[in-house]
Amino acid sequence: MDLKTYLGEKKALIEDFVSGYFRQPIAPEVLHESMKYSLLAGGKRIRPVLCLTAYETCGGNGQDILPQAAAIELIHTYSLIHDDLPAMDDDALRRGKPTNHVIYGEAMAILAGDGLLTEAFRMFSGNGSLAPAVLLKAINELSSAAGLLGMVAGQAMDIISEGKAHDKKVLEFIHRNKTAALLKASVQLGGILYNAEDAEMDSLTGYGEAIGLAFQIVDDILDVTGTTEELGKPRGSDENKNKLTYPAMYGVEGSRTMAKEQIDRALQSVEFFGPKAHWFEEIANYLLKRSN
Ligand code: IPE
Ligand code: IPE
Ligand code: MG
Ligand code: MG
Ligand code: MG
Repeated sequence: MDLKTYLGEKKALIEDFVSGYFRQPIAPEVLHESMKYSLLAGGKRIRPVLCLTAYETCGGNGQDILPQAAAIELIHTYSLIHDDLPAMDDDALRRGKPTNHVIYGEAMAILAGDGLLTEAFRMFSGNGSLAPAVLLKAINELSSAAGLLGMVAGQAMDIISEGKAHDKKVLEFIHRNKTAALLKASVQLGGILYNAEDAEMDSLTGYGEAIGLAFQIVDDILDVTGTTEELGKPRGSDENKNKLTYPAMYGVEGSRTMAKEQIDRALQSVEFFGPKAHWFEEIANYLLKRSN
């Protein structure tokens, strides 16, 4: 099977699960519509795919953890809705469609984000077949990565660094937290849910950390070199907002080199799994070459 087919199959599992889950009506209807609008707008679904890949690389069947993998996508989608708000990045296009607040207004966009974030933890914890201790550990990891030890802290630093003098340490803090933390957790969760051994967890952690940082460096590069059509979000958004980014600090070529270094580090980290690391390797190489 090639990577495109692999990603397509995994993505379909997640999309089917999520659309089935949100078929249940929620009152008020506009809140339901607003959440579904952003959640079902497409997207690469790379975080849940990484979670399923980690679980299967350890020896499990991804079907058994669909609610947990899908919950990560709810958190990611909430972060995109809030990231695009006028008070944040003020962007009008996401996943090739007008942003949530453009369609539903700011109040409903904020609430759709709140709803997705909260529902994620209900979805994650509602699966009775996992051992309670495993579930608890997983929820602790996910809430760390999505919150004050991760994404929220990174987003706050991103916002307060707009237009400020460039600082390499701050830049790395932003990227490791706003983006790498949730990607790393996505990989780790696959291992935690499988109850993987410490040595396996170390390998997953090293991989997740490195692809996580590479992912945001590439996102910054694409904001400069991509097209709005390909990206499904406005090219040049970072420059408009005077964001602290890798291309702004190191140039596009310097940033590419740094992203490549992280991908090499990720590949080294999963060598531990031997031939079972195949999909991890394919995904890491794809993340460097992606155009959206
Ligand atoms: C965009 O994430 C926001 C970042 C954290 C860089 P993705 O590039 O995964 O966006 P979708 O989910 O595919 O739309
Ligand atoms: C956002 O980073 C990271 C999130 C936690 C959403 P960006 O602001 O660069 O993401 P895009 O480029 O708008 O997707
Ligand atoms: Mg942002
Ligand atoms: Mg943004
Ligand atoms: Mg960006």
